[in-house]
Amino acid sequence: MSHTVRSVIAAEREAATGRAFRSTNPATGELVAEVHLSDATGFAAAARTAKQAQRAWADLPAPARGEVIAHAGQLVRANAEKLARLVTREIGKPLKEARGEVQEVIDTCTFFLGEGRRLYGQTVPSEMPDKELFTFRQPVGVAAVITAGNFPVAVPSWYLVPALLCGNAVVWKPAEYSAASAEALYELFAHAGLPEGVLNLVFADGADTFAGLTEALGAGTVNKVGFTGSSEVGARIGELCGRHLQSPCLELGGKNPMVVTADADLDQAVEGALFSGFGTAGQRCTSLGTAIVHESVLPEFLRRFDEATRAAVIGDPTGDVLYGPLLDEKFAHSYEKTLGQIASHHEVHGSTAIGRIGDERPRAGFTGDPSGLYYHPVIVSGVRPGDALFDNETFGPIVGVTSYRTLDEAIELANAPGYGLSSAIYTTDPASAFRFRRGIGAGMVSVNNTTSGAEAHLPFGGNGKSGNGSRQSGMWVLDQFTRWQSLNWDFSGHLQKAQMDITVVDPDLEYRLP
Ligand code: UN1
Repeated sequence: MSHTVRSVIAAEREAATGRAFRSTNPATGELVAEVHLSDATGFAAAARTAKQAQRAWADLPAPARGEVIAHAGQLVRANAEKLARLVTREIGKPLKEARGEVQEVIDTCTFFLGEGRRLYGQTVPSEMPDKELFTFRQPVGVAAVITAGNFPVAVPSWYLVPALLCGNAVVWKPAEYSAASAEALYELFAHAGLPEGVLNLVFADGADTFAGLTEALGAGTVNKVGFTGSSEVGARIGELCGRHLQSPCLELGGKNPMVVTADADLDQAVEGALFSGFGTAGQRCTSLGTAIVHESVLPEFLRRFDEATRAAVIGDPTGDVLYGPLLDEKFAHSYEKTLGQIASHHEVHGSTAIGRIGDERPRAGFTGDPSGLYYHPVIVSGVRPGDALFDNETFGPIVGVTSYRTLDEAIELANAPGYGLSSAIYTTDPASAFRFRRGIGAGMVSVNNTTSGAEAHLPFGGNGKSGNGSRQSGMWVLDQFTRWQSLNWDFSGHLQKAQMDITVVDPDLEYRLP
């Protein structure tokens, strides 16, 4: 069963333009949705609509906006299983992970519904009598939110929920290949009591989105951009926003390191490597990039990691599998190129073959349909700085392994690719954990836990090629979707000049203890 998905502006479905994208189930090839694509004009029109709706939405008291978020959370919970199954059907993420992803939307709503009754400002003492100082959080205006499809509902909720709660209107441009999941999330939010035009959904390709965004920024109808995607596109968006004196919220790629020290619990480290390296078929921004293992335990780590990877079940994502297919053709295509980066000085482990799983390259225990976009897991040892596989994000079921001698060397290797999203260390030595935390450039650090699996209320975000230092989630994201406004109120009845008309105390600074 497939259906047609179209952009929704001010609660109206946009007329079909004739340009359509086919969102398919990567496990079977079956059509999930025919996605009618809008264009730059449609994107800019959505931003104008959002601009018109924003003021009245911001005027609604924050606790009432919090109620809308509460209703959205209730609706997601009531439809959780359907939504999770749709996510699995559209992007091939194992059902267990899709359920977790939907839970992350609920958690985000739960956190922010209470923020409607906080959204605290401060009272600040004045240096003058009969004068009071205050701070207020002001919504930014219209947020344009552009998201990837590997987390088609959780990551968008990290933007939509706080943006709306803070009194912003939103234009959301999801990935085409996860359009049906996006539309379902949109519907759940639309039914939560949002006024028309406050949340708008636009499907458009990258070029049209960029052109529409350029127009909207020029017209002043977009005041904040949130973008989750590649470092390359993130840099272009940052450049564009900079020209309009805006700083976007960027959540970009990662090459997330996992250091395994000589004293680490190796079984635990292998379990972590398996989940973060191959969960979601290695297509999370938080996926493990390179395991950096102390040379004394490298052979044993590799032996156990290889064994666990060979034993893992890969296949039908509705079943109990380590991972299912890649997200979409586009990702399979670029992953094939990544596999071409395996060089002669590398050693491959973890599977009986490299590449697409099928009759030519079968995998023991495979449970999927061979027409799906399934790939063998690959562990590549011997990677080093300068290797494309070591230096760049790979976005597929491939994990690099390298070795180190001193912790300083491990930290240097971990920072070498220049990303800085997530990182992990497996160790039983607290000093190593703290030294690693201090030395690593990543925004997120795990100790005896994987590079993946961030909880929904800790700051999420990266540095270097992973982002511009903006943070999502928890109270920290409020600084993305509000701006501080300061207010001073003088009730003395006359002009009191700051720094000049102040009360002066008279100390005796020559005083010394007898
Ligand atoms: C992402 O890959 O864009 O920490 C987000 C995790 C998930 C979110 C990942 N909770 O792996």
